[in-house]
Amino acid sequence: MTAPGIKTAPTAFDDSFARCITDGLSRTPKEIACKYFYDAEGSALFDAICALPEYYQTRTEVALLRRHAGEIAALIGAEAEIVEFGAGALRKVRILLDALERPCGYTPIDISGAYLRDVVRRLAADYPKLTLRPMVADFTMPLHVPAMAGAARRGGFFPGSTIGNFRPDAAMALLRRMRDMLDGGGLLIGVDLVKDPALLHAAYNDAAGVTAAFNKNLLARANRELDADFDLDAFANYAPYNPTAQRIEMYLVSLKRQSVQLSGRTVEFATGEAVHTEDSHKYSIESFREIAARAGFLPRAVWTDESRLFSIHWLESR
Ligand code: TRP
Repeated sequence: MTAPGIKTAPTAFDDSFARCITDGLSRTPKEIACKYFYDAEGSALFDAICALPEYYQTRTEVALLRRHAGEIAALIGAEAEIVEFGAGALRKVRILLDALERPCGYTPIDISGAYLRDVVRRLAADYPKLTLRPMVADFTMPLHVPAMAGAARRGGFFPGSTIGNFRPDAAMALLRRMRDMLDGGGLLIGVDLVKDPALLHAAYNDAAGVTAAFNKNLLARANRELDADFDLDAFANYAPYNPTAQRIEMYLVSLKRQSVQLSGRTVEFATGEAVHTEDSHKYSIESFREIAARAGFLPRAVWTDESRLFSIHWLESR
């Protein structure tokens, strides 16, 4: 039997993309939920974002992981199972696995089955003793992950400041569920920090236009998968920093009055009408520790770079 929340048929998610985009575009204001960014094209564009000079997040987080790997490994403990929420760049989890003492297993949870197969294939050769347990599931939904035989403790891994892509109330609810799942272990989580708005703005509005292409890939994906006819040149990417809400807000803005065909329906756009695609919330170290504590974690350790661009937290699940 399949545990609740675990979908093994990837088509289930394709249906939900269709439903989400048609629902979202019939709302006022229009929106498309962010988890649909990451199809094969979107993942490749995101890898390109991570290498951009303006996108300081990835290189800062990787440097922090490298610099503090020993200390992090000691906090997680020996014979741990690593549970990654959203299988991201393997580069990051490899740093962790290489530093841990006799890691027992790796459980990546991702909505893309194809991506997970690739992850497992690439890790299996280098970590022959590691139990690999890929789970095709939406980690934003309630999910039961059974204990792994032989694991002394569970260490959650949630890098990339993905937590920032949830509204604070949803972030708190997600952290609370993670806390329950990691009972007795802990969570290693990367969190982007509040800073000079000009630096934040540049990180999401790169000169080469890769972030714009990434945002527009939602429309391209609808063209590929849902037989839609979005004209990508008739939409602009617009991603301002909202300093009072402390978040980047991402939009696709219609540059003209237009109608778009989508799954047999017609969607009307006015000139200047915006589709909200994603937010990226920023925290201070203190404000993040506070929401972690309210979610039931004990914030144990935090690492940051000299310029305080990014933070990594180790939160214990008591
Ligand atoms: N979570 C990361 C962030 O908010 C990555 C990310 C998600 C992202 N969506 C994005 C980066 C869109 C650039 C553009 O920074």
